[in-house]
Amino acid sequence: MTGRTETALARWDFLKAYVRDWHTVGAVAPTSRAVARKMAALGGVQYAKAIAEFGPGTGAITGELLAALPSDGRMWAFEVYEPFIEHLRAHIHDSRFTLLERSAADLGEVRRVEVPSGFDAVISSIPFSLIGPEGTREIVRAVAENLRPGGMFVALQYHPTYLRPYLMEEFEQVRRNPYPWNIPPTLLLTGRGVRRRT
Ligand SMILES: C[S@@+](CC[C@H](N)C(=O)[O-])C[C@H]1O[C@@H](n2cnc3c(N)ncnc32)[C@H](O)[C@@H]1O
Repeated sequence: MTGRTETALARWDFLKAYVRDWHTVGAVAPTSRAVARKMAALGGVQYAKAIAEFGPGTGAITGELLAALPSDGRMWAFEVYEPFIEHLRAHIHDSRFTLLERSAADLGEVRRVEVPSGFDAVISSIPFSLIGPEGTREIVRAVAENLRPGGMFVALQYHPTYLRPYLMEEFEQVRRNPYPWNIPPTLLLTGRGVRRRT
């Protein structure tokens, strides 16, 4: 199968998934390569030893993260939608990659067992605005608690304002990187420097 045919199939799978379960999937098409590469760069993935990805879907961002990750780096991907899990199993064969059929909220349990020093970066494309306040707060807090000092959270969002206040609760530095020319227009938010609780 050519790369172009595979991409078209991934797009078709994605659209079908959105129609079946829009609330979990949260987008009608996979993320573009340009945005995925930017996420890898913002997360410093080229220097990382351990990263996590939330919501790999059909692997649009995953592929670019693995392309940037050093040969001795490792990556854990958290996905909850069964057809995407099957798709990833069939398409990604890389000894650095571990696919977990778990929610992003379980990041801390995986860190305790696999990455005691914490993740260098967490790269997310999960639809926080559809997950709602309680789930968002739980996941953002899990990220802050399980990054190593200086580690970076990178989150792709289509909602222009929803996620930032939750990041501000947990991180000292929160930045917005808009991609208005992407279809659909995309916002990349970064968080770094975990706030100390008093
Ligand atoms: C907008 S899609 C992004 C897919 C892919 N990363 C991309 O950029 O093309 C959101 C993904 O997040 C997954 N997802 C939603 N809630 C999740 C959760 N709590 N934990 C892990 N993945 C989740 C969905 O199943 C879906 O694969």
